[in-house]
Amino acid sequence: MTGPAPLAPDAVIRGAALYSGLLDRPAQEALLADLRGVVAAAPLFSPVTRWGKPMSVRMTSAGRYGWVSDRRGYRYDRQHPSGVDWPPIPDRVLDLWHRVTGLAREPDCCLVNFYEGTARMGLHQDRDEADFSWPVLSVSLGDDALFRIGNLDRGGPTESLWLRSGDVLVLGGAARLLHHGVDRVAAGTSTLLPKGGRINLTLRVVD
Ligand code: SIN
Ligand code: MN
Repeated sequence: MTGPAPLAPDAVIRGAALYSGLLDRPAQEALLADLRGVVAAAPLFSPVTRWGKPMSVRMTSAGRYGWVSDRRGYRYDRQHPSGVDWPPIPDRVLDLWHRVTGLAREPDCCLVNFYEGTARMGLHQDRDEADFSWPVLSVSLGDDALFRIGNLDRGGPTESLWLRSGDVLVLGGAARLLHHGVDRVAAGTSTLLPKGGRINLTLRVVD
C-alpha cells in the first residue's frame, strides 16, 4: 500500500533517515498539547524489565496497541497497565507519519517515552513487531538527546548524533533492525517542556 511519495531526508546515518527540525516550534507545541490528552487518558508509568530492574524512562502509548514491559517480559498489549484501552493516536501524529513515510497504512502504536534527569535507553533493537518491512518513525521533543546507532548485531562500531526538538528520524529498510539507544539527554537545551526533559514518540506498525 502506498500513498504520496515519502519526504526526502536531510541526512542518512547508517541508513536511518534524519529530518532535522521538520517540526517548527508551533507544530511542536501543538503536538505537546495532543500528548497531554494522551497522558491524561493513559498516565505515564515506570516499566521494569523482565528481571525486575526499573527502566529510567517513563512511558505510555496511544493506538490499538501499546508497548509494555514488566516481569512477564516485553510485548505489545491492547491495554494500559491500569486496564483501560490506549487512547487513539492524535491526528497530527498520523498526518506526520503519512507525510514522512508516504505510507497509506496507519501505525498501530505511538509509544511515548519521557526522559527526565539522567534517564537513558540502552542499545536495543525494535523487534516486537510482526513485519519488519514497515518503518519505525521517531519524533523528538524537548531537550537534546545523544542518540547512538549501531549494527544489526549488538557489537561493532556505532555512530552518535544529537536529536533536537522537532527532529524526525526513520529507521526503515536495511536500517529497520539496527541497534539504537539514547546515551544521555542534555538538560536545559530546550524550552519546550516547562519543567525540562525530553519526549520521544515512536510510531510502529505492530501486526
Ligand atoms: C526508542 O528507541 O524507543 C526511543 C528512542 C529515542 O528516545 O530517541
Ligand atoms: Mn527503539
